[in-house]
Amino acid sequence: MATDNASWLNQVYCEDALAGLSRIPDGSVDLLLTDPPYNLGKDYGNTSDQQSVEQYLAWTERWIDAALPKLKENGSLYIFLTWRFSPEIFVMLKKRMTMMNEIIWDRRVPSMGGSVRSFSSVHDTIGFFVRRKDYYFDLDAVRIPYDAATKKARSRSIFVGAKWLEVGYNPKDLWSVSRLHREHAERVDHPTQKPLEIIERMIKASCPPDGVVLDLFMGSGTTAVAARRTGRRFVGFELNAEYCKTIAQRLAALEHPEPEPVAKARPKPRAARAKPLRQPDTVANTVE
Ligand SMILES: C[S@@+](CC[C@H](N)C(=O)[O-])C[C@H]1O[C@@H](n2cnc3c(N)ncnc32)[C@H](O)[C@@H]1O
Repeated sequence: MATDNASWLNQVYCEDALAGLSRIPDGSVDLLLTDPPYNLGKDYGNTSDQQSVEQYLAWTERWIDAALPKLKENGSLYIFLTWRFSPEIFVMLKKRMTMMNEIIWDRRVPSMGGSVRSFSSVHDTIGFFVRRKDYYFDLDAVRIPYDAATKKARSRSIFVGAKWLEVGYNPKDLWSVSRLHREHAERVDHPTQKPLEIIERMIKASCPPDGVVLDLFMGSGTTAVAARRTGRRFVGFELNAEYCKTIAQRLAALEHPEPEPVAKARPKPRAARAKPLRQPDTVANTVE
């Protein structure tokens, strides 16, 4: 990691993002990766997700206009949304940037009832935007290796040495990754924590090694943790003081990872006592 004395680097400020953005110099961020409140009425310990539609859209436009100058010219933006407000917010962003993808995050929600007057919504909508044609994008860092069966099926001579077969395929715009459940080791106490797998893919593709990622709405700090794990620097904001503590704990845990549980040594099998052989009454499942 580069030694950079800028005091705002690798910090999550426990304050309103709109108030704190002035800490960050313009043109200093490689990737703006952000997961704002969706305005679905969730309780984040503040009213950010419980605004009127007009207030919410006006507030969204304000933070977009405050954050975009922080991006480098070849920088990118990812924004998590749902179908409820992605149409309006994508239009706002398309007036300011070039839209490259709409990524569908399939949260792998099991089929259990759900809406009875419409189709059950099981995905989030992610917009990927850039400023200029020469934006940073490292496809090789996020390719998905072909499995052994596919490689074998493509073993005809015309495929031998094919680069695409060796390096793996380009992730498509449908990302099927389970939302986090209690049994996932990375899960912490935040209602809308995003999986590291998704955030790390965005960072590896769209932020150069040692680059800077900005997240205005850190929540449980997934972006900061993912940035650390991938060797990038980060900066961001979170309003809720309890979530700020969670972020600090998650970052500290990276510095002092818990040791892997040591498998208990198995007791040595006792020396088999010589038992008289007993003929079974019936012999089932005999394998010749
Ligand atoms: C959708 S959650 C982010 C979840 C995060 N991506 C994660 O993986 O944990 C949005 C977060 O934005 C925070 N927030 C809302 N308004 C804010 C503001 N004006 N400034 C900073 N944080 C804010 C909320 O408290 C909430 O934790």
